[in-house]
Amino acid sequence: MVNVFDIEVQARPDVFKQKEQENSVLQEKEEIEKNETIYDRTSFMTTFSTDAYLEDFYTKVEDPAMQMVLKFLPLIACRIGSIDRLLDFGAGPTIHVAATFRDYAKELHLADYLPQNREELIAWKENRSRFDWSTPLKMILTQEGSAWEQLQEMITRTRNKVHGIYHCDCFQNPSVDCPSHLHGTFDVIVTIFCVEYCCNSYEEYKNAIKNIAGQIKSGVQ
Ligand SMILES: C[S@@+](CC[C@H](N)C(=O)[O-])C[C@H]1O[C@@H](n2cnc3c(N)ncnc32)[C@H](O)[C@@H]1O
Repeated sequence: MVNVFDIEVQARPDVFKQKEQENSVLQEKEEIEKNETIYDRTSFMTTFSTDAYLEDFYTKVEDPAMQMVLKFLPLIACRIGSIDRLLDFGAGPTIHVAATFRDYAKELHLADYLPQNREELIAWKENRSRFDWSTPLKMILTQEGSAWEQLQEMITRTRNKVHGIYHCDCFQNPSVDCPSHLHGTFDVIVTIFCVEYCCNSYEEYKNAIKNIAGQIKSGVQ
């Protein structure tokens, strides 16, 4: 039996070639997706590579989701305005949220679940990190309408405002292992690409958000 596609191919060999190419691209894509590691809470501890994460997502910042975050964060920070205390919950090894809020928050606090990420954050705070944050930070400066010459000042100011780096776990209450006098005192909590990675169900997600929101200063909306 000759189907429509066969007839088309007999009449148009170039179409056949094109279809073949499309199929092989599709197959290649499926193969890549099959081999890709999807991080979840069980694989995090053992497989999350801090260096690879920074290299993959924060060197050139080609990932559209990361680009979107870096574009919108400065606008959100500007809309929120001056605050006392900010917590980046599940910051990973990243400091771009802290840098974005450097001029708005009196204190910046960072928390992450993984020891290797907290070690990187401590290294950055102590000016020992080998990772170059120039590209994402320049993107933030651009969004702010600030000159790139301010990069070093931005870094220094952010470093000076980072008051603490803690372990956090969105399934625990309290969700952050900060000094007890800080519990429930954060004016703003930012959490990006974190809770959705850790939760396996909507119920878990709601519970995680509840635990994280428990750290918000009462009366803050
Ligand atoms: C994809 S990274 C996101 C890092 C950073 N916020 C960013 O935007 O690049 C997800 C982070 O969630 C953290 N994480 C994993 N399990 C967690 C848990 N139970 N509670 C809080 N954070 C967790 C990991 O340590 C990791 O740093």
